[in-house]
Amino acid sequence: MNPAALIPTPDTLQVPWGWFQVLLLLTLFLHIILMNVMLGSGVIALVNLFRAGGEPTPLARDISKKLPFAIAFTVNFGIAPLLFVQVLYGNFLYASSVLMANFWLLIVAFLIIGYYLAYILDYRFDTLHNSRVPIIGLAVASLLTIGFLMSNNFTLMQRPEAWTRYFDRPTGLLLNLSDPTLIPRYLHFMVAAIAVGGLSLALLGEWRVRRGDPGAAAAVRSGCNWFAYATIVNFGIGFWFFGVLPRQVHDLSHFSGVLIAVLLVVAIILGAFSVIYSLQARVMPTLYTVLAAIFVMLLVRDLVRVAYLRPYFSLADLEVVPQYSPLLLFLVIFVAGLALIGWMARLAWRAVTAGEVRS
Ligand code: HEM
Repeated sequence: MNPAALIPTPDTLQVPWGWFQVLLLLTLFLHIILMNVMLGSGVIALVNLFRAGGEPTPLARDISKKLPFAIAFTVNFGIAPLLFVQVLYGNFLYASSVLMANFWLLIVAFLIIGYYLAYILDYRFDTLHNSRVPIIGLAVASLLTIGFLMSNNFTLMQRPEAWTRYFDRPTGLLLNLSDPTLIPRYLHFMVAAIAVGGLSLALLGEWRVRRGDPGAAAAVRSGCNWFAYATIVNFGIGFWFFGVLPRQVHDLSHFSGVLIAVLLVVAIILGAFSVIYSLQARVMPTLYTVLAAIFVMLLVRDLVRVAYLRPYFSLADLEVVPQYSPLLLFLVIFVAGLALIGWMARLAWRAVTAGEVRS
């Protein structure tokens, strides 16, 4: 069967696709950074508690207070890119979501489990005794599972040739496990999350040092080490990932292939600098270089999707029926929403640092 016959006809757009593409990239960037802080700091708290034999440690207590906030922000900042990716690639994403429908819907259940456990850890940290490690372990496992399901859907959507399996198993239980890129791609995201989680702890440590707490210098060093070593490992995973991408992605006869190659080199250089800075415990230069590296990597990720879908579809094919007012209204509300969230985050941060809030 010709897989192209399975791709639904796309809806029309109200404004040219570039608008949605820029908004997708910007909002996905925020989602991925927050996801990294949430997941990475969760993993670090788990390792820290495990090493301490489950005894309460200041680092794990600190992280457990902030984890519910981090989950809430990650989820909320996931909604905007979900809307934009559906506008641009709905005919692919809806199809793959249906193929893995049971798993896709399970994300909500895993989210509730992870969120609930994070709250238990926050509220009962000091009285949990032996159950601290299993509770944070289960919370982290739920979040890791969500990430795995995300990677499954966002790789399955770009492989219509894999969709024909539906006719053998019309159960809504198809994952993308036969794709050689799935595991390295997933690991690339998760190890990056550990690195950025470490960096977020280093940032917090640096902020405390500046406020006159010399004891926090150890947190800066430890967070930077997490960042540096996880990123070094991620260079290896990144090369593995690149090696298993199909030929059309590496194809330098297409402009997107050239752009992917150039952007990858830029991202690798930025990544290398971030490792050097973090080994010197220079937190702010590490932050700037890694944020730039992540943004460039997300551009590459999008171009890889364009290359995958080239035999079937191009964004330029999407028909535009001009209607600018919804976009304008969206932009106004989006900016106001960001300002409101910034204000809430400032309040929450003040309350957390003053030790007042039980989220
Ligand atoms: C809280 C746990 C979550 C984790 C650990 C997580 C993790 C991830 C990861 C790893 C990716 C990249 C997948 C890949 O390309 O291989 C991703 C992408 C994405 N996530 Fe999440 N996510 C979470 C929650 C959410 C939620 C609740 C939403 C929506 C409401 C969401 C929306 C998205 C979207 C739209 C993309 C990709 C957009 C695109 O392909 O351009 N995420 N997420």
